[in-house]
Amino acid sequence: MDKFLEHLAPKAFTNLHFVAVLLWIVIGGTFLAVFVDMDINEPRASLNRSFMQDSKFLKTYLNSYLIKSYKKFIKRMRDTITEETQELLELQSPFSDNPGEKITAVKHLTMDQIYTNLVLIQDRDEYKFPKNREEQLKVYPWSRDETSCPKKLKDLLNKDSNKVLIIGRPGIGKTFYCTKLIRDWASGAEKHFDAAFFVKFRRFDSADELSLRELLMKSEYFPTHHLDDEVCCQLLENPKDVLILFDGFDEFRHDQHMESTYPRGIDEKKPLQILYQALVKGILLKGASVLTTTRPTALSSIKYLSQSFDKTLEVLGFSWEQIKKYVENFAGKDKQTRQTLWRHISSNLNLLSLCYVPVNSFIICSSLYPILQSNSSAGVSLPSRLTTIYKIAVKVFYFKRTREVPKKYLTSELFESDDLPDEVPEEFEKLGKVAFDGIKEGKLILGENEVRGIEDSALFHRLPDQRLNHGSLNREKQFCFIHLTMQEFFAAWHLTNKMNETELPTFVFENIQDGKWQLVFQFLAGLMDDKENQQFEIFTHLFPVKTEESESERYNEDWPENQEKTKVTCWPTENGRELAVTLLKCINETSKMNTAVQRKLEQSNFNCVDFNHCHLTAVDCSSLVNVMENVRGISHFDLSGNNTGPLAAQFGTNMQA
Ligand SMILES: Nc1ncnc2c1ncn2[C@@H]1O[C@H](COP(=O)(O)OP(=O)(O)O)[C@@H](O)[C@H]1O
Ligand SMILES: [Mg+2]
Repeated sequence: MDKFLEHLAPKAFTNLHFVAVLLWIVIGGTFLAVFVDMDINEPRASLNRSFMQDSKFLKTYLNSYLIKSYKKFIKRMRDTITEETQELLELQSPFSDNPGEKITAVKHLTMDQIYTNLVLIQDRDEYKFPKNREEQLKVYPWSRDETSCPKKLKDLLNKDSNKVLIIGRPGIGKTFYCTKLIRDWASGAEKHFDAAFFVKFRRFDSADELSLRELLMKSEYFPTHHLDDEVCCQLLENPKDVLILFDGFDEFRHDQHMESTYPRGIDEKKPLQILYQALVKGILLKGASVLTTTRPTALSSIKYLSQSFDKTLEVLGFSWEQIKKYVENFAGKDKQTRQTLWRHISSNLNLLSLCYVPVNSFIICSSLYPILQSNSSAGVSLPSRLTTIYKIAVKVFYFKRTREVPKKYLTSELFESDDLPDEVPEEFEKLGKVAFDGIKEGKLILGENEVRGIEDSALFHRLPDQRLNHGSLNREKQFCFIHLTMQEFFAAWHLTNKMNETELPTFVFENIQDGKWQLVFQFLAGLMDDKENQQFEIFTHLFPVKTEESESERYNEDWPENQEKTKVTCWPTENGRELAVTLLKCINETSKMNTAVQRKLEQSNFNCVDFNHCHLTAVDCSSLVNVMENVRGISHFDLSGNNTGPLAAQFGTNMQA
């Protein structure tokens, strides 16, 4: 109470409303109390007694009034949050349903339906990229044990750690996590705090000055246009029960050298930066819990507060299991869609590993979903060509995350036309160049010099800065593509657009057996499809032609003993298998090269396709079958010894039929 008066001193007693209320309580309460007091509790009381001097009495009655107002405010706050966080703008499908446009299913999700646990680990995690590409891909969807994600608010914020910093790359789910926390608080599922406020840095201009009262009023989902003194009083009296979430420290311009004294009360105006510091350092609302989120890019700006944080965590996005859960949440009760979506995503390691960033899961599922819906009859075909999905993803990423989305790009046209926009931004050209150089030199981490001019691209992550020399204070900014596959896509884009007709075939010829270019060439084939001047021979010329005769038991199981065993002519031979798989995967990305390849393969006159023990995945098998199924004269297709699960059997059946 005393603290309350002290904090409110400059303003409270000029506030007519408050004084009137106070008088009403005191007078009304006093009369009531007199009768109650006389009749029941204290028969010895006399009317001569001076009630106005009885501070204990005043406090009790005033307190009960304050608590009532406070509770009313909190109830309103909880209701507003519950209502407004149910259907979030960012969960609307990126595909608009403009009037007149025929999109059969635009799926808008709700928070409760889609929220999936994230991997959150203590302290920062560095990306360590192994040499082998398959290992590199596994770096992204890091699988962690259950303990890596604090389930409850009290695991994250408690009396030992009430100032917490959460770091995470763009799209990894920081804002969503805060929204979920505040929603849980509002629903009563989290009883750990009495009051919770959600401040988004991006709403504020660093030049403006504001008071703590104004700051709280500008927080998200604030239910009214004023923050009453009664409520302020409770917050100031019980700061330990208050939680403030500060989201997106990186989205606010900070002046590291700003000098100012800290505010002394709830109404003293200061720049947001100073207010924020005062809260993190416990100068204002001492003991309150403060959770801050930021991208790694802004870590250097927040470093001066590092002593004040009790704990730092990093969000790593979804693990493999969580991606599966996400897909289930996305499809909801629609079991058929759930199965098809998951089968599609899980059978493609490239797609699966892209989904570790929740925003990618959102984009991929939202891109695939309308297609599934509009062809709900049997035999749905989803865009399985990686190039098509990446073209969609690049458009969605670029327009959704870089600037306001021009609606026309986020419509069903994204599927119908898989061209990149006509006016391909200059940024793409630069991205293509650094992506290509990076892969060529085996560099997945790019320094600031290499990315100059495009460092703000939505397609990059900023990594922790690196010291230039041992012991030196000079640091260099470090970047990497949001995903290795995105780098590979841009490298292919560079090859398609920047190499001439003689350079390109030579480059492909020289590198086709090198694993690090495998996916780049797949994208290259897909992107070449859009070119007028298609050089099919770049790939078709490279197919191995050697065949071998075999009378293996595998092809003679039911053969009567006295008959001569059938001989089959197999393609490819052992030495050519890996190259054949790579090329078939490339061809599968194109629609126009198929026939040329089929005719070329027919010239080799084989009747058995032999890919046993080739480490094929289900998606590889599907590429092989897609290309090979129209090659004439094939009677056997051997995919045994590959770990492809039930899908392979399916392919086998299709082929035989
Ligand atoms: N835990 C989650 N569960 C389901 N979807 C999520 C989750 N986290 C993020 N998303 C999806 O990813 C999008 C981007 O997340 P966001 O929190 O804005 O990223 P950040 O703030 O880290 O840049 C969200 O709009 C949502 O669609
Ligand atoms: Mg955010």
